[in-house]
Amino acid sequence: MQNIAAFILDLDGVITDTAEYHYLAWKRLADEEGVPFDREANEQLRGVSRRRSLELLLGEHLGRYTEEEILEMMDRKNGYYREMLKTITARDFLPGARALLDALKARGLKVAIGSASKNTMTVLERLGIADFFDAISDGYSVTKAKPAPDVFLFAADAMGALPEQCVVVEDAQSGVVAALAGGMIAVGVGPEERVGHAHFRYDTTADIDLDEILA
Ligand code: BG6
Ligand code: MG
Repeated sequence: MQNIAAFILDLDGVITDTAEYHYLAWKRLADEEGVPFDREANEQLRGVSRRRSLELLLGEHLGRYTEEEILEMMDRKNGYYREMLKTITARDFLPGARALLDALKARGLKVAIGSASKNTMTVLERLGIADFFDAISDGYSVTKAKPAPDVFLFAADAMGALPEQCVVVEDAQSGVVAALAGGMIAVGVGPEERVGHAHFRYDTTADIDLDEILA
């Protein structure tokens, strides 16, 4: 791909394994509420905003709850999640993630975060990379969540890059849709059935081949 100026990386599930913590926190809430929930159901929640995640988790049970109860459950899940974040250290990069960041910078590319999470800064601080990025676009930056392209367009704009000069790296189905909707190059991390609609797909972050993407 010619003329690539910047990479926009999703955080949860690409740089660190917080996708697992999100699952465990939702699972605890679902158990408390007596709502069935498992790893398979969790696949739909990848990359999805906190509120939409809860709506998907509750499914047909959603109508049982008042708005106040919904907000309380979002808070409760976030409390469980933030407890788990306290255990993250600079050792908790997914394999290949730290090397990918350094390789991108070494090639003179700009690098941003494009994440739906309102906990992005906490996670980046725990990993020790809060100052690494040229731009951070997170759950506070835009109102329209993935699969809308807004979170990535915000990042591109903050880096002074055009959408077509940007490569997005995503582990979520909704994130790949968002990148394509934004007119960006999409790199999917994960199985074909989840991210096979991306321009490039790799099984894990460690498998990402920059030479192939930038050729
Ligand atoms: C995304 C995660 O990065 O952020 C989702 O993939 C999560 O699982 C979403 O629901 C919102 O995160 P938070 O931290 O604001 O609840
Ligand atoms: Mg993700």
